[in-house]
Amino acid sequence: MTANAQPEVYEEAARDRLAFWEKMARRLEWAQQWDTVLEWELPYAKWFVGGKLNASVNCVDRHVAAGRGDKVAFHWIGDGERDRRDVTYADLHRQVCQAANALLDLGVQAGDQIAIYMPMIPETVVAMLACARIGAPHTVVFCGFSAEALRSRILDCGCRVVITVDGQFRRGSSAPVKPIVDDALTACPDVRRVLVVRRTGNDVAWTAGRDRWWHEVVDEQSVQHEAQAFDAEHPLYIMYTSGTTAKPKGILHTTGGYLTHVSATHHYVFDLKPETDVYWCAADIAWVTGHSYIVYGPLANGATSILYEGTPHPGDKDRWWKLIEHHKVTILYTAPTTIRTLMKWGAEELEPYDLSSLRILGSVGEPINPEAWIWYHTHVGGSRAPVVDTWWQTETGGIMITPLPGISEAKPGAAMQSFPGVSADVVDNEGKPVPNGSGGFLVLTEPWPGMLRGIWGDDQQYRDTYWSRFKGAYFAGDGAKKDEDGDLWLLGRVDDVMNVSGHRISTTEIEHALVGHPSVAEAAVVGASDATTGQAIVAFVTVRSHVADEVANGERFAEELRNHVAAVIGPIAKPRQVIITPELPKTRSGKIMRRLLRDIADGRELGDVTTLLDATVTDLIRERMADRAEEREG
Ligand code: PRX
Repeated sequence: MTANAQPEVYEEAARDRLAFWEKMARRLEWAQQWDTVLEWELPYAKWFVGGKLNASVNCVDRHVAAGRGDKVAFHWIGDGERDRRDVTYADLHRQVCQAANALLDLGVQAGDQIAIYMPMIPETVVAMLACARIGAPHTVVFCGFSAEALRSRILDCGCRVVITVDGQFRRGSSAPVKPIVDDALTACPDVRRVLVVRRTGNDVAWTAGRDRWWHEVVDEQSVQHEAQAFDAEHPLYIMYTSGTTAKPKGILHTTGGYLTHVSATHHYVFDLKPETDVYWCAADIAWVTGHSYIVYGPLANGATSILYEGTPHPGDKDRWWKLIEHHKVTILYTAPTTIRTLMKWGAEELEPYDLSSLRILGSVGEPINPEAWIWYHTHVGGSRAPVVDTWWQTETGGIMITPLPGISEAKPGAAMQSFPGVSADVVDNEGKPVPNGSGGFLVLTEPWPGMLRGIWGDDQQYRDTYWSRFKGAYFAGDGAKKDEDGDLWLLGRVDDVMNVSGHRISTTEIEHALVGHPSVAEAAVVGASDATTGQAIVAFVTVRSHVADEVANGERFAEELRNHVAAVIGPIAKPRQVIITPELPKTRSGKIMRRLLRDIADGRELGDVTTLLDATVTDLIRERMADRAEEREG
């Protein structure tokens, strides 16, 4: 079968970038054609200006109208063995129409923001599409985030409605979710409605007048809903992500350009053949990877996907391989951290299974080390399936740098080349492109359809964060190099953002959480190298004078602080280690020297220490780290 991408696609896009993106936009169904492809007033882009479309019609209705209603959109596999459900495009259509009607009944209008705090179940997709259908931007919050994290997002976004579940299943046991929402809402006076999907059936507290069961409100609705077309630039969703400040930023995505970008990249990068492929993106829907490559991209392309509620865990090491064999999965898209975990468990776990259906393997979220790349290609892909290492960000909306299967030569660890129509470059400190064989900062030099349209409620931060470092270009915050052939290698963040298991976590946000603890005076957080998670969170903390030495130096106190961070932000932000120290290494002007702490955390020789105020501090911290390591091993 011929590949979707032919070598000419690069030339075509290079000849006329905008014409290429117009052609990609025509893969969608528009209620009204656009007049202008791009209006660009740096740093503000508008794509497909004057065009109108409905995202949910593009993801659902048009496939049903084309006679593909019986095609499975999602093979949903829940956490427990007994939970399985196939959702066809016709099912999705009915449910999305009902949910859209229900939201309208609850008083939601186009332009109202809605928070979705739900696990990996089909209703989460339905809720997102129902919001999109009526023009209500959604903000999906990862179900592992704390009440405080949820509350801050609801408040920042100005949500009036929350859609959630009673509880969720994780590794066979149920965990409450609605109580977390109740807690968050104690200080969100504008939230008028909470729609609750019954997932676990556990008892939950109920606020009369505010809380409604999904099955009572949604199931009784008409299965028809006439969708209105929205402006191409109508907000589709807001996704919060960590930056270098303590407060997560709300990244705004709009409709026409975003849908064009994610559907085009999904088509070419994964070489998707909707009639025959079974596609599995193993991210959580709540991250941008889930939005773009579980929901909007694949559904716009009419794909059949796996929607899997669980994550790999040591009690069930071969679960993934069983699923791939059973569903004859052809395309797998996951993060290097997962690949490294599966690699650690060994190839013998997958040997009993027939994985020959796999024909394309994707990687996303962090640099993939060549060893993991080769293992993935050799053992999972049978040395046959190409690996596409895709670089992009919450802000870019869709894939930006990637090989294309069938065209690009593969180099283990390299994301290779800009996607057609995308212009990435590597520049030096002054913003000049570096020659082949050199490293620098990754920038994007032309606007692209899926780009963020701003930071919700903070235009200045939008300009400062992305558009002020290099004149005329978008600064991604990543280091990169061009090899001798001009191919791109991503080298990780160059700012205070860590990447832990493919999750973006801000050092400042964790420091903020730590100093919120009554016993903590100061905190400095760094990302240390970790063989499985890529980076691991290590926190260095000084305590307030009222804390006795015996308490501060005990392992129980460090544990308390780790749990404190998990409670404030969520378990994904829990530090691997908290080291209590009498002082932090500082410069004479009082700045904490994080660079030295990173060296200590990685067990490296210290770099330049000439500006350090008190050199004994670093020796002491090193001793503490060594003691803790011994305790952990002992
Ligand atoms: O540092 C880069 C890393 O993940 C960051 C974006 O994180 P987030 O917005 O959470 O989106 C993750 C999923 C798209 C980037 O700034 N990153 C992402 N993909 C890669 C990567 N680093 C290296 N190689 C990649 N393929």
